Amino acid sequence: MGISGLHAVIVPFPAQRTINPLINLAQLLSSRGVVITFVNMDWSHKCMSKAAHNDDEPTFKFLNIPDGLPPDHGRLANLAESVIAMENLGPVLEHHLLSSSSDGKTPPVTCIITENFMSCTHQVAKKLGVPRVIFWTLCATSSIAQCNANLLLSHGHIPVKVEDSKRAEKVITCLPGNLPPLLPSDLFSFYRATDTSGVLFQWALRESQFQSKADYVLVNTFDELEPPETVSALSCNGCPALAVGPVFLPNFLEGRDLNGRGSLLEQDESCLKWLDAQDPASVIYVSFGSIAVKSNEQLEELAIGLEKSQHPFLWVLRMDIAGGMPATLPEGFEERTKDRGLIVKWAPQVKVLSHPSVGGFISHCGWNSCLESMSMGIPILGWPYSADQFLDCRFCKDVWKIGIDLEGVDVDENLVIKREEIERGVRRLMEGKEAQELRKRGMELKGAAFKAVGQGGSSFTNLNRFIHDMTQLSKSASVKRAYPQSIPSIC
Ligand code: UDX
Repeated sequence: MGISGLHAVIVPFPAQRTINPLINLAQLLSSRGVVITFVNMDWSHKCMSKAAHNDDEPTFKFLNIPDGLPPDHGRLANLAESVIAMENLGPVLEHHLLSSSSDGKTPPVTCIITENFMSCTHQVAKKLGVPRVIFWTLCATSSIAQCNANLLLSHGHIPVKVEDSKRAEKVITCLPGNLPPLLPSDLFSFYRATDTSGVLFQWALRESQFQSKADYVLVNTFDELEPPETVSALSCNGCPALAVGPVFLPNFLEGRDLNGRGSLLEQDESCLKWLDAQDPASVIYVSFGSIAVKSNEQLEELAIGLEKSQHPFLWVLRMDIAGGMPATLPEGFEERTKDRGLIVKWAPQVKVLSHPSVGGFISHCGWNSCLESMSMGIPILGWPYSADQFLDCRFCKDVWKIGIDLEGVDVDENLVIKREEIERGVRRLMEGKEAQELRKRGMELKGAAFKAVGQGGSSFTNLNRFIHDMTQLSKSASVKRAYPQSIPSIC
């Protein structure tokens, strides 16, 4: 039994975007004496085991369960089928949790901590008679928009017509949390549709109903970005809603690379040596996260834009970046840029962003990438692709002022950005007065992130409060454990 008396079952959506923050949260709780069971799908566990090459073994155990999809299923490459499989995971999850705790050694589960898109945990938590904690892996603003999807629907803001973005009367002001006014193009790209019958549209709407039924809410953000009054708008029936991020940062500062441990692809560490040989703050890091794809036409424009900018670059070109096609780069590009460019398939991103040679990040603005970049003080050239990335990109530019973007990316997902615009963006990010201002702001945000997670900081204190509250709840008579006598035989 851990010293806190708590046993948290942690359930990410099986994707890099949620495994990384949840494995970091798990480690933070484990370091504070909470017993952790981290739930992986069999396939994600296999990927993690194959990719892991560092010694950062977490201090908790994993529980691997089947996701019900055939072994050769493309998983996230077929998101629509994957999300439905996750919606139906409840009985399997419950069965495996009960089996794993029947060994007489595992302490009883005292809470389930789940990523925001895992509604299947709602029923499981009810059956076990424990609180269900939602950990929002998006920024609080996107989270508020997502969990109020039905309100947005009733106000006619979704389905989203992105061409309305420039019309003042379409600005969204009905959401709680004292948010800056949102544009239609800030909303989840799943809601960009001509009709409401699409699988992802309907799924995101269904999930929103369970997002407003949590017993406790944590958010991977920090005070300087989004104040407590914003985060509080995620409260469900008056439960606490607390900012505890960036959750990777305390582990990183203690020399623990949990993103490396949670990585589904092998991180190529050789790029760190290459960075050692570059000038301070000279390198642009280019990465579009784990899911975004680009056409070969677009990759060619990007390559030439980088080349023309003359700046050194480290470019993550995932095997599947061209959506199943082999990625092709312009003829002679690698030879012409070999003295100042390096291409890898997958990088140790946090180590890269914290390297003194890196000066800017061309990013799809996934929320983890944004937090990691801000925490290291690195300005962002935003190039969003889907989901919440449009809001993150615009807020990096207009609200948090650590970023710029490329012309037109917010309204047209299929736009091919031309080489001249990319070169211009890189120069803005890396040269002159604008770049200096961005770096200054980067340093301010880095300071604020470090402060938030440091001893006595807001996120540090909130995490301790969470443990305290969970301990009280688990002791209180109101938490009735309703463990069934026998294990349901559904597997
Ligand atoms: C997805 C969604 O598309 C996005 O909208 C949401 O905000 C987060 O999840 P994803 O592509 O997974 O985006 O991006 P991101 O959130 O940035 O997470 C990627 C993670 O992979 C980061 O933690 C990053 O450090 C890691 N990474 C990325 C690597 O370890 N190596 C790389 O080369 C690139």
